[in-house]
Amino acid sequence: MSASPPATTTDVAQQLGILTDLVTPWAIRVAATLRLADHIGDATVSVEDLARRSDAVPETVGRLLEHLAARGVFQQDSPGRYRNTELSQRLRRDHPMTFHPWLDIEGGMGQYDIGLSALLLAVRTGEDAYTPTFGRSFFEDLNTDARRGAAYDELMATLTAWTLPEILQAYDWTTVGHITDVAGGSGALLTGLLQAHPHLRGTLVDDARAVGTASDRFTKAGIADRAAAVVGSMFEPLPHGADLYLIKSTVMGWGDDAGAGILRRCADAARPGGRVIVAEFLRGAPRLVPALDLYMAVLGGKERTEEEFRALGSAAGLTLRTVHPTPSGYCLLEFTPDA
Ligand SMILES: C[S@@+](CC[C@H](N)C(=O)[O-])C[C@H]1O[C@@H](n2cnc3c(N)ncnc32)[C@H](O)[C@@H]1O
Repeated sequence: MSASPPATTTDVAQQLGILTDLVTPWAIRVAATLRLADHIGDATVSVEDLARRSDAVPETVGRLLEHLAARGVFQQDSPGRYRNTELSQRLRRDHPMTFHPWLDIEGGMGQYDIGLSALLLAVRTGEDAYTPTFGRSFFEDLNTDARRGAAYDELMATLTAWTLPEILQAYDWTTVGHITDVAGGSGALLTGLLQAHPHLRGTLVDDARAVGTASDRFTKAGIADRAAAVVGSMFEPLPHGADLYLIKSTVMGWGDDAGAGILRRCADAARPGGRVIVAEFLRGAPRLVPALDLYMAVLGGKERTEEEFRALGSAAGLTLRTVHPTPSGYCLLEFTPDA
């Protein structure tokens, strides 16, 4: 058996340097937000042209590109002239596997990235650090910036589109008549479920921001006669009478007290005879967004194990009945309300 050679001091310093560098990840996000890779396209473009096309200052655009070219993200062809590399091609919005929506600081993920500066407080307190740091909650921030809110909803809809086939497969949706999607965002999940199962009816509950987009989506999808989107809060009484209360990718954003509060509202609305399904990544399972758990920590939330969900359900008057995993790591946890 051969032991690996001891790391030299230089190796360790280099590794730490790479792990702790904040400038390069942020510089890539700035380049993505300015759409530099799109402006370059398949050509070689001067810094002056890029600055003009991205409405920025040539000198600082040049310094940004110099830094990123030194790290292989862009390539300098001649002084002040750049072209895309295989890496920066992925920043283009027209790339079939674009990273742009994840890196656009003004986009859906940007608010989470900005929020990471509150991680220290989150680790110290174990509570929502976003609100005390920025003066309003993450979702209040989203709701006060229409462009960012729309980008966030679009990103969530993209994630749903990736996982929808698995979610459709993982559960027997023919056993349900009416679904209420709690905090259902812009309606991508409910639309997918209702399109796949013409017998289903659905109600979506979310903030006004998301409800407007969801209503439009239902109309465009031709399911407006079976789906309604209503403004409401998951911390207030939910519409009664659905067979199933579904809540996807949302409980993870909240601590145990708030999480149990949300589930209690679902349990109250589902009684008697209804079901509640939480759809989330379980702690330790593969996930589509790396480091999701620490993003959630900033909001005071967390990924949970099956046992933690069982306990959370129990605190909310729900019994965990079945667990339906999917290949991507999404898990459907089915609860029934206690009598
Ligand atoms: C992470 S997103 C998940 C959206 C959707 N379920 C999905 O999987 O794409 C969390 C959602 O919770 C909604 N939300 C936040 N606070 C809420 C509240 N008090 N009542 C209802 N929805 C809320 C947000 O507007 C957002 O759409």
